[in-house]
Amino acid sequence: MTENTTGVQAQQHDIIIRNARVIDGSGEPSFTGDLAILDDRISALGDLSKDRGASEIDAGGKVLAPGFIDSHTHDDHALVATPSMDFKISQGVTTVVTGNCGVSIAPLAIDRRPPPPIDLLSGDPRNFHATFAGYLDALDAEPAAVNAVCQVGHSTLRLAAMERLDRTATGDEIDAMRTTLAESMEAGAAGFSTGLFYPPARAAATEEVIEILEGFSDFGAIHTTHMRDEADHIADSIAETARIGREAKIPVLISHHKCVGRNNHGRSGETLAAIDQARATQLLTLDAYPYVAGSTMLDAGRLMTASKVLVTWSVPHPNYSGWDLEDVAKDMGRSVDDTIEALLPAGGIFFSMDEEDVRKILAYPHTMIGSDGIPGDEHPHPRLWGTFPRVLGHYSRDEGLFDLETAVRKMTSMTAEQFKLKDRGTIRLGAFADLVLFDAETIEDSATFEHPKTPARGIDRVFVNGRLVWSDGGFTGARPGRALRHRH
Ligand code: ZN
Ligand code: CU
Repeated sequence: MTENTTGVQAQQHDIIIRNARVIDGSGEPSFTGDLAILDDRISALGDLSKDRGASEIDAGGKVLAPGFIDSHTHDDHALVATPSMDFKISQGVTTVVTGNCGVSIAPLAIDRRPPPPIDLLSGDPRNFHATFAGYLDALDAEPAAVNAVCQVGHSTLRLAAMERLDRTATGDEIDAMRTTLAESMEAGAAGFSTGLFYPPARAAATEEVIEILEGFSDFGAIHTTHMRDEADHIADSIAETARIGREAKIPVLISHHKCVGRNNHGRSGETLAAIDQARATQLLTLDAYPYVAGSTMLDAGRLMTASKVLVTWSVPHPNYSGWDLEDVAKDMGRSVDDTIEALLPAGGIFFSMDEEDVRKILAYPHTMIGSDGIPGDEHPHPRLWGTFPRVLGHYSRDEGLFDLETAVRKMTSMTAEQFKLKDRGTIRLGAFADLVLFDAETIEDSATFEHPKTPARGIDRVFVNGRLVWSDGGFTGARPGRALRHRH
Protein backbone atom coordinates (compact mmCIF):
# COMPACT_ATOMS: atom_id res chain seq x y z
CA MET A 1 0.00 0.00 0.00
CA THR A 2 1.32 3.41 -0.88
CA GLU A 3 0.59 6.20 1.59
CA ASN A 4 0.01 9.69 0.41
CA THR A 5 2.98 11.65 1.69
CA THR A 6 1.87 14.52 3.84
CA GLY A 7 3.56 17.87 3.31
CA VAL A 8 3.55 17.44 -0.45
CA GLN A 9 1.30 19.80 -2.39
CA ALA A 10 -2.32 18.61 -2.55
CA GLN A 11 -2.92 16.46 -5.58
CA GLN A 12 -5.89 16.82 -7.86
CA HIS A 13 -7.81 13.66 -8.80
CA ASP A 14 -10.97 12.95 -10.76
CA ILE A 15 -12.67 11.10 -7.92
CA ILE A 16 -11.87 10.50 -4.26
CA ILE A 17 -13.69 7.83 -2.27
CA ARG A 18 -13.22 8.60 1.42
CA ASN A 19 -13.61 6.57 4.59
CA ALA A 20 -13.89 3.12 2.99
CA ARG A 21 -13.18 -0.31 4.39
CA VAL A 22 -10.68 -1.33 1.72
CA ILE A 23 -10.51 -5.04 0.88
CA ASP A 24 -7.67 -5.07 -1.62
CA GLY A 25 -8.34 -8.49 -3.19
CA SER A 26 -5.13 -10.15 -1.97
CA GLY A 27 -6.86 -11.89 0.93
CA GLU A 28 -5.09 -9.64 3.47
CA PRO A 29 -7.20 -8.04 6.24
CA SER A 30 -9.11 -4.91 5.30
CA PHE A 31 -8.07 -1.40 6.36
CA THR A 32 -9.84 1.93 6.56
CA GLY A 33 -8.71 4.54 4.08
CA ASP A 34 -9.33 6.75 1.06
CA LEU A 35 -8.80 5.99 -2.60
CA ALA A 36 -8.36 8.35 -5.53
CA ILE A 37 -8.95 7.83 -9.23
CA LEU A 38 -7.33 9.78 -12.04
CA ASP A 39 -8.40 8.86 -15.56
CA ASP A 40 -8.57 5.04 -15.61
CA ARG A 41 -6.17 4.28 -12.76
CA ILE A 42 -5.96 4.33 -8.97
CA SER A 43 -3.92 7.48 -8.38
CA ALA A 44 -3.60 7.50 -4.58
CA LEU A 45 -4.44 5.33 -1.62
CA GLY A 46 -4.30 5.84 2.14
CA ASP A 47 -5.04 9.01 4.09
CA LEU A 48 -5.94 11.53 1.41
CA SER A 49 -7.23 14.32 3.66
CA LYS A 50 -4.96 16.80 1.87
CA ASP A 51 -5.96 15.70 -1.64
CA ARG A 52 -8.84 16.97 -3.71
CA GLY A 53 -11.10 15.25 -6.20
CA ALA A 54 -13.30 16.80 -8.87
CA SER A 55 -15.96 14.64 -7.27
CA GLU A 56 -15.83 13.14 -3.80
CA ILE A 57 -17.75 10.26 -2.28
CA ASP A 58 -18.07 9.43 1.40
CA ALA A 59 -18.08 5.64 1.61
CA GLY A 60 -19.26 5.79 5.23
CA GLY A 61 -17.28 2.68 6.15
CA LYS A 62 -18.67 0.55 3.36
CA VAL A 63 -16.46 -1.98 1.59
CA LEU A 64 -14.37 -0.88 -1.38
CA ALA A 65 -13.04 -3.88 -3.32
CA PRO A 66 -11.57 -4.57 -6.74
CA GLY A 67 -14.35 -5.08 -9.29
CA PHE A 68 -15.29 -8.74 -9.49
CA ILE A 69 -13.99 -10.88 -12.33
CA ASP A 70 -16.50 -13.48 -13.49
CA SER A 71 -14.24 -16.40 -14.45
CA HIS A 72 -16.96 -18.33 -16.25
CA THR A 73 -19.50 -16.65 -18.51
CA HIS A 74 -21.37 -17.15 -21.73
CA ASP A 75 -21.53 -13.41 -22.36
CA ASP A 76 -19.84 -13.59 -25.80
CA HIS A 77 -22.84 -12.15 -27.63
CA ALA A 78 -24.45 -10.38 -24.66
CA LEU A 79 -21.52 -7.93 -24.65
CA VAL A 80 -22.70 -6.84 -28.10
CA ALA A 81 -26.47 -7.32 -27.67
CA THR A 82 -26.88 -5.81 -24.18
CA PRO A 83 -23.81 -3.61 -23.65
CA SER A 84 -25.16 -2.26 -20.34
CA MET A 85 -24.48 -5.77 -18.96
CA ASP A 86 -26.78 -4.84 -16.08
CA PHE A 87 -27.04 -8.46 -14.91
CA LYS A 88 -23.29 -8.28 -14.20
CA ILE A 89 -22.59 -4.69 -13.11
CA SER A 90 -25.50 -4.89 -10.66
CA GLN A 91 -23.44 -7.57 -8.86
CA GLY A 92 -20.19 -5.59 -8.89
CA VAL A 93 -18.70 -7.52 -11.82
CA THR A 94 -16.32 -5.41 -13.92
CA THR A 95 -14.68 -8.08 -16.12
CA VAL A 96 -16.16 -11.22 -17.70
CA VAL A 97 -14.33 -14.23 -19.13
CA THR A 98 -16.15 -15.51 -22.23
CA GLY A 99 -15.88 -18.51 -24.54
CA ASN A 100 -16.42 -21.22 -21.93
CA CYS A 101 -17.59 -24.84 -22.11
CA GLY A 102 -16.16 -25.29 -25.61
CA VAL A 103 -18.44 -22.66 -27.16
CA SER A 104 -17.37 -19.24 -28.40
CA ILE A 105 -18.96 -16.74 -30.78
CA ALA A 106 -15.69 -16.64 -32.79
CA PRO A 107 -14.04 -17.76 -34.97
CA LEU A 108 -16.93 -19.24 -36.92
CA ALA A 109 -18.54 -18.44 -40.25
CA ILE A 110 -21.92 -20.14 -40.35
CA ASP A 111 -25.11 -19.78 -42.37
CA ARG A 112 -27.58 -21.78 -40.29
CA ARG A 113 -28.61 -22.07 -36.62
CA PRO A 114 -25.60 -23.59 -34.81
CA PRO A 115 -26.15 -26.90 -33.01
CA PRO A 116 -26.64 -26.98 -29.23
CA PRO A 117 -24.98 -25.94 -27.02
CA ILE A 118 -23.31 -23.43 -29.36
CA ASP A 119 -26.77 -21.91 -29.88
CA LEU A 120 -26.92 -20.89 -26.23
CA LEU A 121 -24.71 -17.95 -27.26
CA SER A 122 -27.09 -17.01 -30.06
CA GLY A 123 -29.39 -18.93 -32.38
CA ASP A 124 -28.79 -16.40 -35.17
CA PRO A 125 -25.83 -17.30 -37.39
CA ARG A 126 -25.30 -13.62 -38.27
CA ASN A 127 -24.14 -12.98 -34.70
CA PHE A 128 -21.08 -15.21 -35.10
CA HIS A 129 -17.73 -13.74 -36.13
CA ALA A 130 -15.54 -15.35 -38.77
CA THR A 131 -12.31 -14.29 -37.09
CA PHE A 132 -11.34 -13.73 -33.48
CA ALA A 133 -9.72 -10.41 -34.35
CA GLY A 134 -12.99 -9.32 -35.96
CA TYR A 135 -14.90 -10.17 -32.79
CA LEU A 136 -12.52 -8.21 -30.57
CA ASP A 137 -12.69 -5.27 -32.99
CA ALA A 138 -16.50 -5.40 -32.79
CA LEU A 139 -16.25 -5.13 -29.00
CA ASP A 140 -13.96 -2.10 -29.41
CA ALA A 141 -16.33 -0.44 -31.86
CA GLU A 142 -19.36 -0.79 -29.55
CA PRO A 143 -17.93 -1.11 -26.05
CA ALA A 144 -19.86 -2.71 -23.21
CA ALA A 145 -19.99 -1.53 -19.60
CA VAL A 146 -17.56 -4.27 -18.54
CA ASN A 147 -14.18 -5.55 -19.70
CA ALA A 148 -14.01 -8.84 -21.57
CA VAL A 149 -11.40 -11.59 -21.55
CA CYS A 150 -12.18 -13.91 -24.45
CA GLN A 151 -11.44 -17.57 -25.08
CA VAL A 152 -11.75 -19.82 -28.12
CA GLY A 153 -14.09 -22.79 -27.87
CA HIS A 154 -13.09 -26.26 -29.04
CA SER A 155 -16.63 -27.10 -30.23
CA THR A 156 -16.71 -23.88 -32.23
CA LEU A 157 -13.42 -24.87 -33.91
CA ARG A 158 -14.72 -28.39 -34.56
CA LEU A 159 -17.86 -27.07 -36.21
CA ALA A 160 -15.70 -24.92 -38.51
CA ALA A 161 -13.10 -27.59 -39.31
CA MET A 162 -15.05 -30.85 -39.50
CA GLU A 163 -17.80 -32.11 -41.76
CA ARG A 164 -19.18 -34.41 -39.08
CA LEU A 165 -18.76 -34.19 -35.33
CA ASP A 166 -19.49 -37.78 -34.31
CA ARG A 167 -15.85 -38.89 -34.49
CA THR A 168 -12.46 -37.72 -33.35
CA ALA A 169 -10.63 -35.28 -35.63
CA THR A 170 -8.19 -36.42 -38.32
CA GLY A 171 -4.63 -35.10 -38.50
CA ASP A 172 -5.64 -32.56 -41.16
CA GLU A 173 -8.58 -31.35 -39.11
CA ILE A 174 -6.38 -30.99 -36.05
CA ASP A 175 -3.93 -28.95 -38.14
CA ALA A 176 -6.78 -26.72 -39.32
CA MET A 177 -7.93 -26.17 -35.73
CA ARG A 178 -4.36 -25.42 -34.61
CA THR A 179 -3.97 -22.80 -37.34
CA THR A 180 -7.22 -21.08 -36.35
CA LEU A 181 -6.31 -21.28 -32.67
CA ALA A 182 -2.90 -19.73 -33.36
CA GLU A 183 -4.52 -16.84 -35.28
CA SER A 184 -6.97 -16.31 -32.44
CA MET A 185 -4.21 -16.33 -29.83
CA GLU A 186 -2.25 -13.82 -31.93
CA ALA A 187 -5.36 -11.64 -31.94
CA GLY A 188 -5.54 -11.76 -28.14
CA ALA A 189 -7.50 -14.83 -27.05
CA ALA A 190 -6.72 -15.65 -23.42
CA GLY A 191 -7.50 -19.34 -23.51
CA PHE A 192 -8.96 -22.41 -25.10
CA SER A 193 -12.04 -24.08 -23.65
CA THR A 194 -13.42 -27.56 -24.15
CA GLY A 195 -16.86 -29.00 -23.46
CA LEU A 196 -16.19 -32.71 -23.86
CA PHE A 197 -19.53 -33.43 -22.18
CA TYR A 198 -21.48 -31.89 -25.06
CA PRO A 199 -22.53 -33.57 -28.32
CA PRO A 200 -20.30 -31.48 -30.65
CA ALA A 201 -17.17 -32.64 -28.77
CA ARG A 202 -18.19 -35.87 -27.07
CA ALA A 203 -16.53 -38.02 -29.74
CA ALA A 204 -13.21 -36.18 -29.47
CA ALA A 205 -10.44 -38.37 -28.06
CA THR A 206 -8.27 -36.98 -25.27
CA GLU A 207 -5.39 -37.03 -27.77
CA GLU A 208 -7.27 -34.65 -30.07
CA VAL A 209 -7.30 -31.98 -27.37
CA ILE A 210 -3.67 -32.58 -26.44
CA GLU A 211 -2.57 -32.32 -30.08
CA ILE A 212 -4.56 -29.13 -30.67
CA LEU A 213 -2.97 -27.54 -27.62
CA GLU A 214 0.60 -28.72 -28.10
CA GLY A 215 2.99 -25.80 -28.31
CA PHE A 216 0.50 -23.24 -27.04
CA SER A 217 2.16 -23.03 -23.64
CA ASP A 218 4.42 -20.43 -25.31
CA PHE A 219 1.36 -18.20 -25.64
CA GLY A 220 0.84 -18.21 -21.87
CA ALA A 221 -2.74 -19.31 -22.44
CA ILE A 222 -4.96 -21.35 -20.16
CA HIS A 223 -7.13 -24.38 -20.94
CA THR A 224 -10.55 -24.34 -19.29
CA THR A 225 -12.86 -27.32 -19.40
CA HIS A 226 -16.42 -28.43 -18.88
CA MET A 227 -15.30 -31.99 -18.25
CA ARG A 228 -16.53 -35.06 -20.09
CA ASP A 229 -18.37 -36.34 -17.04
CA GLU A 230 -19.36 -34.57 -13.80
CA ALA A 231 -21.42 -37.54 -12.60
CA ASP A 232 -20.54 -41.24 -12.17
CA HIS A 233 -17.22 -40.96 -14.02
CA ILE A 234 -16.03 -37.71 -12.49
CA ALA A 235 -12.80 -39.26 -11.20
CA ASP A 236 -11.88 -40.35 -14.74
CA SER A 237 -12.66 -36.86 -16.01
CA ILE A 238 -10.38 -35.19 -13.48
CA ALA A 239 -7.64 -37.61 -14.50
CA GLU A 240 -8.27 -36.79 -18.19
CA THR A 241 -8.16 -33.05 -17.49
CA ALA A 242 -4.91 -33.36 -15.56
CA ARG A 243 -3.40 -35.47 -18.34
CA ILE A 244 -4.27 -32.85 -20.97
CA GLY A 245 -2.57 -30.19 -18.85
CA ARG A 246 0.55 -32.27 -18.29
CA GLU A 247 0.99 -33.51 -21.84
CA ALA A 248 0.19 -30.20 -23.53
CA LYS A 249 2.20 -28.39 -20.81
CA ILE A 250 -0.56 -25.89 -20.21
CA PRO A 251 -2.35 -24.67 -17.05
CA VAL A 252 -5.86 -26.10 -16.74
CA LEU A 253 -8.99 -24.84 -15.04
CA ILE A 254 -11.89 -27.16 -14.19
CA SER A 255 -15.05 -25.18 -14.86
CA HIS A 256 -18.03 -25.14 -12.48
CA HIS A 257 -16.76 -28.10 -10.47
CA LYS A 258 -19.63 -30.16 -9.07
CA CYS A 259 -20.67 -33.72 -8.27
CA VAL A 260 -23.81 -34.42 -10.28
CA GLY A 261 -26.51 -36.95 -9.42
CA ARG A 262 -27.59 -38.59 -6.20
CA ASN A 263 -25.09 -41.46 -6.67
CA ASN A 264 -22.28 -38.95 -6.53
CA HIS A 265 -23.41 -36.73 -3.69
CA GLY A 266 -20.70 -36.57 -1.06
CA ARG A 267 -17.87 -37.23 -3.51
CA SER A 268 -16.36 -33.72 -3.32
CA GLY A 269 -13.93 -34.94 -0.66
CA GLU A 270 -12.60 -37.44 -3.17
CA THR A 271 -12.55 -35.02 -6.15
CA LEU A 272 -10.81 -32.26 -4.19
CA ALA A 273 -8.22 -34.76 -2.97
CA ALA A 274 -7.57 -35.72 -6.62
CA ILE A 275 -7.24 -32.04 -7.50
CA ASP A 276 -4.83 -31.53 -4.60
CA GLN A 277 -2.76 -34.43 -5.82
CA ALA A 278 -2.59 -33.05 -9.38
CA ARG A 279 -1.72 -29.59 -8.07
CA ALA A 280 1.41 -30.98 -6.47
CA THR A 281 2.97 -31.38 -9.92
CA GLN A 282 1.06 -29.11 -12.34
CA LEU A 283 -0.96 -25.92 -12.68
CA LEU A 284 -4.60 -26.79 -12.10
CA THR A 285 -7.39 -24.66 -10.64
CA LEU A 286 -11.17 -24.63 -10.61
CA ASP A 287 -14.21 -22.42 -10.36
CA ALA A 288 -17.73 -22.90 -9.03
CA TYR A 289 -21.07 -21.14 -8.65
CA PRO A 290 -23.01 -21.03 -5.37
CA TYR A 291 -26.14 -23.08 -6.16
CA VAL A 292 -27.28 -26.72 -5.99
CA ALA A 293 -28.81 -26.53 -9.47
CA GLY A 294 -27.07 -26.31 -12.84
CA SER A 295 -28.39 -25.06 -16.17
CA THR A 296 -27.70 -26.02 -19.74
CA MET A 297 -29.35 -27.35 -22.89
CA LEU A 298 -32.35 -29.56 -22.26
CA ASP A 299 -31.71 -33.22 -23.00
CA ALA A 300 -33.06 -36.51 -21.74
CA GLY A 301 -29.67 -37.70 -20.46
CA ARG A 302 -29.39 -34.92 -17.89
CA LEU A 303 -32.83 -35.76 -16.57
CA MET A 304 -31.78 -38.90 -14.77
CA THR A 305 -29.39 -36.99 -12.53
CA ALA A 306 -31.88 -34.31 -11.45
CA SER A 307 -34.54 -34.27 -8.75
CA LYS A 308 -36.35 -31.41 -10.48
CA VAL A 309 -36.12 -29.66 -13.86
CA LEU A 310 -37.26 -26.16 -14.87
CA VAL A 311 -37.54 -25.04 -18.50
CA THR A 312 -35.43 -21.93 -19.20
CA TRP A 313 -36.33 -21.44 -22.86
CA SER A 314 -37.82 -23.31 -25.80
CA VAL A 315 -37.87 -22.27 -29.44
CA PRO A 316 -41.18 -23.96 -30.40
CA HIS A 317 -42.86 -23.35 -27.00
CA PRO A 318 -41.54 -20.14 -25.42
CA ASN A 319 -44.68 -19.97 -23.26
CA TYR A 320 -43.31 -22.78 -21.08
CA SER A 321 -40.24 -20.79 -19.96
CA GLY A 322 -40.02 -20.96 -16.16
CA TRP A 323 -42.29 -24.03 -15.88
CA ASP A 324 -41.49 -27.25 -14.07
CA LEU A 325 -40.92 -29.92 -16.74
CA GLU A 326 -43.41 -32.28 -15.07
CA ASP A 327 -46.12 -29.63 -15.24
CA VAL A 328 -45.34 -29.08 -18.92
CA ALA A 329 -45.72 -32.83 -19.50
CA LYS A 330 -49.11 -32.78 -17.74
CA ASP A 331 -50.19 -29.70 -19.67
CA MET A 332 -49.19 -31.29 -22.98
CA GLY A 333 -50.62 -34.67 -22.01
CA ARG A 334 -47.37 -36.41 -23.02
CA SER A 335 -44.63 -38.45 -21.38
CA VAL A 336 -41.64 -36.50 -20.05
CA ASP A 337 -39.43 -37.85 -22.86
CA ASP A 338 -41.94 -36.81 -25.54
CA THR A 339 -42.32 -33.44 -23.85
CA ILE A 340 -38.57 -32.84 -24.11
CA GLU A 341 -38.67 -33.77 -27.81
CA ALA A 342 -41.49 -31.28 -28.35
CA LEU A 343 -39.65 -28.48 -26.52
CA LEU A 344 -36.32 -28.79 -28.35
CA PRO A 345 -34.24 -26.78 -28.97
CA ALA A 346 -34.56 -25.76 -25.35
CA GLY A 347 -32.72 -25.16 -22.09
CA GLY A 348 -33.31 -26.28 -18.52
CA ILE A 349 -32.33 -25.88 -14.88
CA PHE A 350 -31.39 -29.18 -13.24
CA PHE A 351 -31.43 -29.67 -9.46
CA SER A 352 -28.68 -32.24 -9.27
CA MET A 353 -26.17 -31.29 -6.55
CA ASP A 354 -25.79 -31.67 -2.82
CA GLU A 355 -25.47 -28.60 -0.58
CA GLU A 356 -22.56 -30.07 1.38
CA ASP A 357 -20.57 -30.63 -1.83
CA VAL A 358 -21.31 -27.08 -2.98
CA ARG A 359 -19.98 -25.72 0.32
CA LYS A 360 -16.87 -27.86 0.31
CA ILE A 361 -16.03 -26.87 -3.25
CA LEU A 362 -16.65 -23.15 -2.65
CA ALA A 363 -14.51 -23.24 0.49
CA TYR A 364 -11.62 -25.09 -1.16
CA PRO A 365 -8.71 -22.60 -1.14
CA HIS A 366 -8.12 -22.72 -4.90
CA THR A 367 -11.73 -22.29 -6.06
CA MET A 368 -12.62 -19.10 -7.92
CA ILE A 369 -16.15 -17.81 -8.40
CA GLY A 370 -17.65 -18.04 -11.89
CA SER A 371 -21.36 -17.53 -12.54
CA ASP A 372 -21.92 -19.69 -15.65
CA GLY A 373 -24.94 -17.43 -16.22
CA ILE A 374 -26.68 -17.70 -19.57
CA PRO A 375 -27.86 -14.22 -20.51
CA GLY A 376 -30.00 -15.15 -23.53
CA ASP A 377 -32.38 -17.38 -21.57
CA GLU A 378 -35.94 -16.17 -21.18
CA HIS A 379 -36.16 -17.56 -17.64
CA PRO A 380 -32.49 -17.86 -16.63
CA HIS A 381 -30.91 -19.63 -13.69
CA PRO A 382 -30.64 -17.05 -10.85
CA ARG A 383 -26.84 -17.37 -10.94
CA LEU A 384 -26.93 -14.90 -13.85
CA TRP A 385 -27.99 -12.05 -11.51
CA GLY A 386 -27.04 -13.40 -8.08
CA THR A 387 -23.75 -15.32 -7.97
CA PHE A 388 -21.35 -12.76 -6.46
CA PRO A 389 -23.68 -11.19 -3.85
CA ARG A 390 -24.76 -14.72 -2.87
CA VAL A 391 -21.17 -15.72 -2.10
CA LEU A 392 -20.55 -12.48 -0.16
CA GLY A 393 -23.87 -12.31 1.67
CA HIS A 394 -25.23 -15.82 2.07
CA TYR A 395 -22.09 -17.96 2.16
CA SER A 396 -19.53 -15.59 3.70
CA ARG A 397 -21.52 -13.33 6.07
CA ASP A 398 -24.55 -15.47 6.98
CA GLU A 399 -23.10 -18.98 6.83
CA GLY A 400 -19.52 -18.09 7.78
CA LEU A 401 -18.06 -20.39 5.14
CA PHE A 402 -15.04 -18.06 4.83
CA ASP A 403 -14.25 -14.45 5.75
CA LEU A 404 -15.07 -11.53 3.47
CA GLU A 405 -11.43 -11.00 2.46
CA THR A 406 -11.26 -14.61 1.25
CA ALA A 407 -14.57 -14.29 -0.59
CA VAL A 408 -13.31 -11.18 -2.40
CA ARG A 409 -10.00 -12.84 -3.24
CA LYS A 410 -11.86 -15.73 -4.91
CA MET A 411 -13.54 -13.26 -7.27
CA THR A 412 -10.66 -10.85 -7.93
CA SER A 413 -6.92 -11.50 -7.60
CA MET A 414 -7.10 -15.29 -7.98
CA THR A 415 -8.94 -14.94 -11.26
CA ALA A 416 -6.72 -12.11 -12.52
CA GLU A 417 -3.70 -14.29 -11.83
CA GLN A 418 -5.09 -17.31 -13.71
CA PHE A 419 -6.01 -15.27 -16.78
CA LYS A 420 -2.87 -13.12 -16.49
CA LEU A 421 -4.78 -9.85 -16.33
CA LYS A 422 -2.29 -7.06 -15.88
CA ASP A 423 -3.04 -4.44 -13.21
CA ARG A 424 -6.48 -5.82 -12.39
CA GLY A 425 -7.93 -7.82 -9.52
CA THR A 426 -6.21 -5.93 -6.68
CA ILE A 427 -6.47 -2.45 -5.22
CA ARG A 428 -3.06 -0.82 -5.37
CA LEU A 429 -1.50 2.36 -6.65
CA GLY A 430 -1.36 2.39 -10.45
CA ALA A 431 -3.83 -0.47 -10.97
CA PHE A 432 -6.86 0.04 -13.20
CA ALA A 433 -9.73 1.61 -11.30
CA ASP A 434 -12.15 -1.33 -11.60
CA LEU A 435 -13.92 -1.02 -8.26
CA VAL A 436 -17.05 -1.94 -6.36
CA LEU A 437 -18.44 -0.19 -3.29
CA PHE A 438 -20.82 -2.39 -1.32
CA ASP A 439 -22.51 -2.71 2.06
CA ALA A 440 -21.21 -5.83 3.81
CA GLU A 441 -24.20 -5.76 6.20
CA THR A 442 -26.92 -5.80 3.56
CA ILE A 443 -25.40 -7.36 0.46
CA GLU A 444 -27.69 -10.12 -0.75
CA ASP A 445 -28.68 -11.90 -3.91
CA SER A 446 -32.30 -11.22 -4.75
CA ALA A 447 -32.61 -13.40 -7.84
CA THR A 448 -34.58 -16.59 -7.21
CA PHE A 449 -35.56 -19.58 -9.32
CA GLU A 450 -39.06 -18.04 -9.53
CA HIS A 451 -37.89 -14.46 -10.20
CA PRO A 452 -34.39 -14.77 -11.62
CA LYS A 453 -34.01 -11.35 -13.24
CA THR A 454 -33.79 -9.41 -9.99
CA PRO A 455 -30.81 -7.14 -9.19
CA ALA A 456 -28.94 -7.83 -5.96
CA ARG A 457 -29.18 -5.61 -2.88
CA GLY A 458 -26.26 -3.78 -1.30
CA ILE A 459 -24.16 -2.81 -4.33
CA ASP A 460 -23.75 0.98 -4.13
CA ARG A 461 -21.39 1.93 -6.91
CA VAL A 462 -19.36 0.17 -9.57
CA PHE A 463 -16.48 1.69 -11.55
CA VAL A 464 -14.89 0.26 -14.69
CA ASN A 465 -11.63 1.80 -15.89
CA GLY A 466 -12.29 4.79 -13.62
CA ARG A 467 -15.82 5.45 -14.85
CA LEU A 468 -19.00 4.98 -12.87
CA VAL A 469 -21.22 2.35 -14.52
CA TRP A 470 -23.67 1.45 -11.70
CA SER A 471 -25.05 3.91 -9.15
CA ASP A 472 -28.26 4.27 -7.13
CA GLY A 473 -29.53 0.92 -8.29
CA GLY A 474 -29.16 1.60 -12.00
CA PHE A 475 -26.90 1.66 -15.05
CA THR A 476 -25.33 5.10 -15.58
CA GLY A 477 -25.12 4.78 -19.37
CA ALA A 478 -21.29 4.69 -19.40
CA ARG A 479 -19.69 1.92 -21.46
CA PRO A 480 -15.98 2.08 -20.60
CA GLY A 481 -15.36 -1.70 -20.95
CA ARG A 482 -12.42 -2.94 -22.99
CA ALA A 483 -11.70 -6.10 -24.92
CA LEU A 484 -8.57 -7.17 -23.04
CA ARG A 485 -6.15 -8.71 -25.52
CA HIS A 486 -3.95 -11.35 -24.08
CA ARG A 487 -0.34 -10.38 -24.86
CA HIS A 488 2.05 -13.26 -25.24
ZN1 ZN B 1 -20.25 -25.81 -18.72
CU1 CU C 1 -20.60 -22.89 -18.90
